Amino acid sequence: MDNHDKKYTAITGASSGIGYATAIEFAKRNKNLILIARREAQLQSLKQKIAELNPNLDIVIKVCDLSQAAGVYTLFAELESYNIETWINNAGFGHYGSVQDQDLTKIQTMLHVNIKALTILSTLYVQKYQNQSGAQLINISSRGGYTIVPNAVTYCATKFYVSAFTEGLAQELKQANAKLTAKVLAPAATQTEFGQKANNVTEYDYDKSFNQYHSATQMAEFLIALYESDKIIGEISTKDFSFTLKDNILPYSGNPAENQKR
Ligand SMILES: NC(=O)c1ccc[n+]([C@@H]2O[C@H](COP(=O)([O-])OP(=O)(O)OC[C@H]3O[C@@H](n4cnc5c(N)ncnc54)[C@H](OP(=O)(O)O)[C@@H]3O)[C@@H](O)[C@H]2O)c1
Repeated sequence: MDNHDKKYTAITGASSGIGYATAIEFAKRNKNLILIARREAQLQSLKQKIAELNPNLDIVIKVCDLSQAAGVYTLFAELESYNIETWINNAGFGHYGSVQDQDLTKIQTMLHVNIKALTILSTLYVQKYQNQSGAQLINISSRGGYTIVPNAVTYCATKFYVSAFTEGLAQELKQANAKLTAKVLAPAATQTEFGQKANNVTEYDYDKSFNQYHSATQMAEFLIALYESDKIIGEISTKDFSFTLKDNILPYSGNPAENQKR
């Protein structure tokens, strides 16, 4: 199929949860999709579901383990011929437990997926699309990317990185008058496979674990609201679980007099 004239939305972590629900929301808005994750069967069943919803779309599946940097570069290179108007770095996972007890194999993989892959893919996307009108990079952080949550310190630190990197990138792109915009979505508790994976369990009850949480579809709708806005951040309040769009949260030293001379 000739994909040169078509525009695509690429979503990492599309095999479940927020990424899966986001793919459906973009499909409803007539967006061709590139669905990325490790579990091919889940991506194929999502592709089938989208084909029933909107048969006119081109849906591309890319199976990739984002914890392997070489594979991340290969993934982006293989998408060279596609015009990707929106790139969503959503893949990620958490870990509940003290630093003292954390399993470093799981933690290293978390650092690779949540930080390293996101940075590589964001950078490659910026390098290629910074001057393309309407291009958007949306990175999924967390409320834990703005507030440290006890028993989830390392996970929160990965999401502080995502928030700082993406807010800083958004400022840098604005100052450079780039056409690409970078945005951050910061979900609070959302019913997905996250709870299972973060706690290393096969069953996880969100009703028992949280007073309030959103569904993945609600979170995808918030992501769409961020996508359609000219704001940088879409944040869930931990106080009342409301969704707010903001220009920035982290302090930014935009005054050149305070920084290294260029
Ligand atoms: N749910 C929450 O309460 C919550 C709150 C705040 C932020 N978030 C963030 O939201 C994002 C989406 O998570 P979710 O809640 O939707 O959880 P989820 O249902 O577990 O989905 C995570 C997605 O990431 C993918 N992924 C994980 N490791 C990967 C790897 N090595 N290579 C490629 N893909 C990988 C998974 O696909 P495969 O397993 O098929 O590879 C899956 O599609 C994450 O960044 C998470 O940190 C979630």
